[in-house]
Amino acid sequence: MARITASVYTSHVPAIGAALDLGKTGEPYWQQVFQGYEFSKQWIRENPPDVIFLVFNDHATAFSLDMIPTFAIGTAASYEPADEGWGPRPVPRVIGQPELAAHIAQSVIQQDFDLTIVNKMDVDHGLTVPLSLMYGQPQAWPCPVIPFAVNVVQYPVPSGQRCLNLGKAIRKAVESYDQDLKVHIWGTGGMSHQLQGPRAGLINKAFDTAFMDRMIADPEGQAAVPHIDYVREAGSEGIELVMWLIARGAMSDLSRGADGRSAGGPPPKVLHRFYHVPASNTAVGHLILQNS
Ligand code: DHB
Ligand code: FE
Repeated sequence: MARITASVYTSHVPAIGAALDLGKTGEPYWQQVFQGYEFSKQWIRENPPDVIFLVFNDHATAFSLDMIPTFAIGTAASYEPADEGWGPRPVPRVIGQPELAAHIAQSVIQQDFDLTIVNKMDVDHGLTVPLSLMYGQPQAWPCPVIPFAVNVVQYPVPSGQRCLNLGKAIRKAVESYDQDLKVHIWGTGGMSHQLQGPRAGLINKAFDTAFMDRMIADPEGQAAVPHIDYVREAGSEGIELVMWLIARGAMSDLSRGADGRSAGGPPPKVLHRFYHVPASNTAVGHLILQNS
């Protein structure tokens, strides 16, 4: 049986990718960001997953106003880093896991979530920057990745509650796959930020801190927060944070019993927590939770 053993949460600030690609990690400004991932890089080296289910958002790179899937699962054999205007990042191509992805699509759609199946997609900083933060600059990414794209760019966006419930369905899907695979689920994006308009540059540390607290101890409470609260308190791009709830919903304390209620297992262990302001226009937030 496949198992979700841990969840990783991180911002995806594109300037972090540029700092790595341009050899600026040693500069004091960036050192403060990258030191927050030293523990994580060692931890993932010592606890390598067989597959990463990577929840991210596309930034009008693979999708555009022509087509806006709310939830899209990548079932391809590989994904090329996208050209986001300065050429593709010099990072390895992302290898997929089509068999497990197809199984998850089948199971999650049968659990009443409408997923878009994506057989061809380029992946932007939303996916490649989290990989870079956790793995540095390898010749090849150490394991296959199932990209799972969520629309948090064009309204209407999915609610936090729907994201949490989707995470629960993903866990059930993974656990019904009959190969012994250790799966990590990553929730990416955030933290508070706004990139345009009169409030450009907004960062709300109090909101971010409370969000991280509730991700650990009260995800059901966080799931009840309406999207408009994210936009008001955390800026127009702060809504990216709802993606963290998908990963959190897949942790074992929230899995449902036969009666449909929470199975109420022990809460996950907090292996690592990091928060730093600023990186580019946002705060960087990072958590690693492990199933107890
Ligand atoms: C920035 C952050 C993002 O999440 C993004 O997609 C683009 C830019 C920034 O902080 O500059
Ligand atoms: Fe973003």
